[in-house]
Amino acid sequence: MSENESGHPSDLMNKLVSLSKRRGFIFQSSEIYGGVGSVYDYGPLGIELKNKIQQHWWREMVYRHDNIVGVDAGILMNPEVWVASGHVGAFSDPLVECTNCHRRFRADELADIEAGNADEQQCPSCGTRGNWTEPRQFDLMFKTFMGVVQDDKATVYLRPETAQGIFVNFKNVQDSARQKVPFGIAQVGKAFRNEITPGNFIFRTREFEQMEMQYFVKPGSEDEHFEAWMERRMDWVKSLGIREDRLRLHEHGPDELAHYCKRAFDIEYRFPFGWQEFEGIHNRTDYDLGNHQEHSGKKLEYFDPASQERYVPYVVETSAGLSRTLLVVLADAYDEEELENETRIVLRLSPKLAPIQAAVFPLVKKDGMPEISEKLAADLRGQFNVQHDVAGSIGKRYRRQDEAGTPFCLTIDGETLENGSVTVRDRDTLAQERVSLDSVAAYLADAIHKA
Ligand code: GAP
Repeated sequence: MSENESGHPSDLMNKLVSLSKRRGFIFQSSEIYGGVGSVYDYGPLGIELKNKIQQHWWREMVYRHDNIVGVDAGILMNPEVWVASGHVGAFSDPLVECTNCHRRFRADELADIEAGNADEQQCPSCGTRGNWTEPRQFDLMFKTFMGVVQDDKATVYLRPETAQGIFVNFKNVQDSARQKVPFGIAQVGKAFRNEITPGNFIFRTREFEQMEMQYFVKPGSEDEHFEAWMERRMDWVKSLGIREDRLRLHEHGPDELAHYCKRAFDIEYRFPFGWQEFEGIHNRTDYDLGNHQEHSGKKLEYFDPASQERYVPYVVETSAGLSRTLLVVLADAYDEEELENETRIVLRLSPKLAPIQAAVFPLVKKDGMPEISEKLAADLRGQFNVQHDVAGSIGKRYRRQDEAGTPFCLTIDGETLENGSVTVRDRDTLAQERVSLDSVAAYLADAIHKA
């Protein structure tokens, strides 16, 4: 197996696309009609993996902190939200995109492009020259119409970030959940961006999911909270089992900062196509709450009962792409090795993220083995996501589960009939051990818990 510079197997992205379709992780949307620009559907294994990442995030952010609570806001919002947030203004300028680093810039702020010398224009972000798309009046937000009349008054937007649903609910949540600053609001949901250059499979798509948390803090304390969240988020990413030498932090320079940001760090992964962000930690100051207060005319201040002060809180945001994190997890887990003159493709997913936690097989379809394996699978199902497979040789069944990332395969064989034990095969080490039928559930629970 040849590897590329990033240490991934060669041609990894194409291999991931093909494995995702073959095993039912990810399909092109509306494939039978030739697809639709950069939208993807999650199949039976993909939705399991996505749900597991999301649950793991929710557990970490909401359940572990008694001062963080969740919301699930509508995708469609009052269009004034996007005026106040700056998205309407910021996303309707003539934009050019650097085709090397995919950062977008206002064409009218790049002197050489303005002068008609795009070939000479250096990218303020990555420094390469002349890699520019044509300038386009680019509205990154998808527009649609609410109600029966299609005029400007009926225009609504598909949200380009989930964060605004949190900002506009700041008061509702603070009052109803009786939270005191500092406190956080978390949300997972769809976001939409009419990207100029989507690509790299699910890396940059037009419909995607985000896992965001806005942490409301006292002005002046934001740097301390920012540092703490950066560390916690990096620890969480590592807890997914991602290789640490493929992770790094990148601080945004002044030219890279989004319109709402004073300070930002990206958590980057070394993809086969280079280092790219999949999560950002942002100091959004009081930009959003301040603007919503001004545009809505509603007070969005916090009254601190201890100090008797009244202020608009600052916000430290942690913003992760759920679909992009899933790509990181898949890319990092994919492995190939030579085994018995064959290439074994294996997804080395952490057992706590694996879509199928255990597969159960009868060695052969006779001597009562299928009945025992069916019963074992049924018993385990209440607690684990289990697949029962009787089709094909045992070798073929192992290979299918390796590609699905299933950490444990349980085989009912001749010895089971004699002493009630099953073979547990470990996906990564290929080691096999015997476990009694009545302790398989405890064995799996322990292995998954330890992961
Ligand atoms: N609320 C802040 C915000 O949205 P962002 O850096 O624009 O910040 C946060 O996006 C995360 O959302 C990114 O790190 C990435 O993981 C994900 N994301 C953004 N655009 C995406 C796209 N077109 N496709 C997939 N994921 C995307």
